Amino acid sequence: MAVKFNGKHLAKFIRPEEYEAIYPQVELAHKQLETKTGFGNDFLGWLDLPVTYDKEEFARIKEAAKKIRSDSDVLLVAGIGGSYLGARAVVEAVRGLYHNELDDGLKIYFCGNTISPTALNDIIKLTKGKRFSINVISKSGTTTETALAFRVLRKLLEDSVGPEEANKRIYATTDRAKGTLKQLANEQGWPTFVVPDDVGGRYSVLTAVGLLPIACAGIDIDELMQGAADGREKFGKCSMDNDAYRYAMTRNILYRKGKSVETLACFEPDFTMMNEWYKQLFGESEGKDQKGLMPTSCIFSTDLHSMGQFLQDGSRVMFETYVDVKNTREDFYIEPLEGNFDGLNFLAEQNMSVVNRKAMEGTILAHTDGGVPLGIIEVDSLNAHDIGELIYFFWKACAVSGYLLSVNPFDQPGVESYKKNMFALLGKPGYEDRKAELEAKLQD
Ligand code: PA5
Repeated sequence: MAVKFNGKHLAKFIRPEEYEAIYPQVELAHKQLETKTGFGNDFLGWLDLPVTYDKEEFARIKEAAKKIRSDSDVLLVAGIGGSYLGARAVVEAVRGLYHNELDDGLKIYFCGNTISPTALNDIIKLTKGKRFSINVISKSGTTTETALAFRVLRKLLEDSVGPEEANKRIYATTDRAKGTLKQLANEQGWPTFVVPDDVGGRYSVLTAVGLLPIACAGIDIDELMQGAADGREKFGKCSMDNDAYRYAMTRNILYRKGKSVETLACFEPDFTMMNEWYKQLFGESEGKDQKGLMPTSCIFSTDLHSMGQFLQDGSRVMFETYVDVKNTREDFYIEPLEGNFDGLNFLAEQNMSVVNRKAMEGTILAHTDGGVPLGIIEVDSLNAHDIGELIYFFWKACAVSGYLLSVNPFDQPGVESYKKNMFALLGKPGYEDRKAELEAKLQD
């Protein structure tokens, strides 16, 4: 079993009857998902995606990845939010944080996810003297951060190889039919890939949005999809033993007991961007109508030296969920040191993964003693298959969590507020009234 929820340390915080009491609501949520009758039922394409995905497009993704890997030194992936996080999360979980430095082949840099001029200039520097391609990803085709970076990078590419060759090196992942990006792609003849209508941004990593950059990183996307398909089977039936539902129930029960923060923690740094992906998935899905758990994350033991004090001893507002990676990508045998000058020989003659595990076990016991409810998501490894299964586990748990909270887990109306203010302050036509009002508020 690649992915499993282990609730053994939760026993002193949640009684079995509490799961039984909430279970009928889970049954309802499950039925609403299956029959597509709940909130946001236009956005349930992810449910069957691991088996119903477009096989023809999947083959084109592999072909495009092969071409990019053979004709480019650098791939710039421009996208933000759901059009960014999943791809980077999978690439770094599977290939490691330093894949660009360690692999000889294609370097993959993510951009268009900020308006920082420093970040953009650094990306431009990374293309100097390099053969590069661009994968621009935007479902709406109009997102400012991505569109602005793409405008600059497209010109850079055209200046470097000429417009005709540039058109063969720009890959657009966007809506099937509408939007500025789709129109531009049609006009210029760029290869295009589709973000399906019924899959929202944060559920899109297993569409072309994630699959093209992931395939470009040399990751086996068949394995990834197989893992997700296995997750769909495993977490597809409604029962108390469905681990995705147990995790969703745990979150909701703890929320009702006054916990307002979940900290997802992993002892593998390669999980850093998966943490970011999880934060978007749950934050955008649940945080509405003044409700929802605030998703936060840590990488341990690193963050035990920054957040450890608070988690052990600070306000009891949080619970923790640990992602326990059973088999690490690498291991390291610790040799004994003659003379034991650093006093560390008590760690010697074993693998470092054992030491890391003891750190995890020690932390679990300390934090639960400190009053932090703590569940564990066990994952066999961070290979493509298991990450695929883990993605599906989180998707399913998130959808049910949202329904348990009576919110629509598939929209994100709140994200628009900052955009409207930003457009008004920048003088975008149509926002004149708001501009005056906001500028008055900004006056001293
Ligand atoms: O989850 C979401 O829907 C958002 O995070 C979007 O993915 C993000 O805003 C980017 O949107 P788009 O793909 O339209 O550029």
